[in-house]
Amino acid sequence: MLIAEGLSVGYGKTVILKDVSIAVPRGQMTAIVGVTGGGKSTLLQTLGLLARPLASGRFDYIAAPDSSPLPLATLRQGQRNHLIRSDFAYVFQRVELVNHWDARSNISLPLLSRGVPQPVIDETVRELWDCMHFIRPMDGRPVAQLSGGERQRVGIARALAAQPTVVFADEPFGSLDPHTANDVMEHFFRVLGERAITGVLVTHDLEAAWNHCQQEYQIHETSLERTR
Ligand SMILES: Nc1ncnc2c1ncn2[C@@H]1O[C@H](COP(=O)(O)OP(=O)(O)OP(=O)(O)O)[C@@H](O)[C@H]1O
Ligand SMILES: [Mg+2]
Repeated sequence: MLIAEGLSVGYGKTVILKDVSIAVPRGQMTAIVGVTGGGKSTLLQTLGLLARPLASGRFDYIAAPDSSPLPLATLRQGQRNHLIRSDFAYVFQRVELVNHWDARSNISLPLLSRGVPQPVIDETVRELWDCMHFIRPMDGRPVAQLSGGERQRVGIARALAAQPTVVFADEPFGSLDPHTANDVMEHFFRVLGERAITGVLVTHDLEAAWNHCQQEYQIHETSLERTR
């Protein structure tokens, strides 16, 4: 589904990870773990087309079993943007929301951009809100006023609303208390499983990686090793 070989990621002349090989199978969860500052977010952003690799041997996306591989490194920006909108969703470590919009508008965004009818959007948003275990009802405050954990759950709900083919999640439960994290995590992985969404999860939570991911890669210095 997503296959990279000989991928180097970093910033300008600084190589963070060198000669990475990773295969993300369709419909499964792949964990990326490793020390803080090791390059997990950098790798995830590169795999998710939000950054360009410094070098790549093979970097292919195969959307469906019968589709031909799409060479991601050579796509033009317009093609990248199209793929990002149509197939991918993200939960960012530093939750990136439209700060002056309320939670409803943020969660609705991927559906609005696809022309989904308003009643369907309203129902989807309500269901997602209920599954995110907020302790207060949804109100019209701009999300800039929400707590870190509330913002993080709006970000998770937005990614699920998008019904992506692939979700890239960077420490998606890192701001939540253990009990809420557990409830939200259960819902997140259940939805991904039910819809056979492919996932790449960056996490420090080794238990979550073990319980919810079929395979795991670990960063060691500048390289990536498959550990499960
Ligand atoms: N925009 C940037 N420009 C230059 N260097 C960066 C940039 N973003 C991150 N880095 C550097 O790249 C390295 C890897 O950062 P990255 O955010 O990928 O680590 P990480 O494994 O996700 O860490 P954490 O667990 O703390 O989130 C770090 O040394 C970081 O300082
Ligand atoms: Mg990170």
